[in-house]
Amino acid sequence: MIDLSIRIGSLELKNPVLTASGCFGVGREYSEIYDISSLGGIVTKTITLRPREGNLPPRIWETPAGMLNSIGLANPGVKSFIETEIPFLRDIECVRIVSVAGETIGEFVELVGEIAPLEEVDAIEINISCPNVEQGGLTFGTDPVVITELVGKLRPVTKKPLWVKLTPNVTNIVATGKAAVDAGADALCAINTLLGMAIDTDTRKPRLGNVTGGLSGPAILPVALVKVYELYREFPEIPIIGIGGIGSPTEAIAHMLAGASAVQVGSGLFSYPRLPLDIIESFEEYCDEQGFSSVREITGSLIIPEI
Ligand SMILES: Cc1cc2nc3c(=O)[nH]c(=O)nc-3n(C[C@H](O)[C@H](O)[C@H](O)COP(=O)(O)O)c2cc1C
Repeated sequence: MIDLSIRIGSLELKNPVLTASGCFGVGREYSEIYDISSLGGIVTKTITLRPREGNLPPRIWETPAGMLNSIGLANPGVKSFIETEIPFLRDIECVRIVSVAGETIGEFVELVGEIAPLEEVDAIEINISCPNVEQGGLTFGTDPVVITELVGKLRPVTKKPLWVKLTPNVTNIVATGKAAVDAGADALCAINTLLGMAIDTDTRKPRLGNVTGGLSGPAILPVALVKVYELYREFPEIPIIGIGGIGSPTEAIAHMLAGASAVQVGSGLFSYPRLPLDIIESFEEYCDEQGFSSVREITGSLIIPEI
């Protein structure tokens, strides 16, 4: 028997497969198809302090090897989330992570303060791919100084693990990752979507109502792998959760070889909702083939040939 369990800091997960924020809700619809407690964990849609309508439609555009979305963090706000969604999470027997975002550091602090006491929440994922209104709308996640300040202010608010989800839209992800780690992040999640756009040449208009959006799916797998690899090389002791372009078990394994301790599946769920279950199953087979007794041995076991 292969040991599929992993640890992310103080949390134990029965296996290393989670669902990515914004692609799974809280799992209500998926729970009608399969037992979501068999996952390693679920990450909720990002929640904000106040309700958000989100961006102008259209909000989704399919690209040749992926999709663009500009949902704009549409969500009912934390109060409604606690009332209507948290009870659903109560009986789910896997690790439950709530994703949060704010427009100011103060908003993040207030929001984490609301989520932290809930026993249905095992960890909090900080989505820093959102505009910081105090800095003229510049994304929080692109500035290491702002990341250090943000995570530093959130750290004393809760003892729950804080996972920081990094944006790939930076020159040097090691610098933003370091800022999060130095300020007390328990894990790094990489990556969020890549900034992109699509244009209708007949109407000469952008395909998305918001003009730009986030690219996800198969197109971003190579980018995600290199970001995970760069982070793992720099921080071998910090758990990294690999996200981006996972559409098959092999791609999940590639994330782990690059240095991920666990993976999150996003857009891949839309075409094949059972994908996480296939990935869990494949880890056993892969470990057997490679002579590993635990899935943990896959992490960072990439072989770089000597030049
Ligand atoms: C429709 C959609 C909505 C998303 N919403 C969120 C969100 O609310 N918060 C977040 O941190 N990431 C969000 N993401 C990003 C995903 O969690 C993930 O980081 C990204 O899509 C890359 O993974 P993938 O290629 O497997 O989709 C969203 C992605 C999609 C496609």
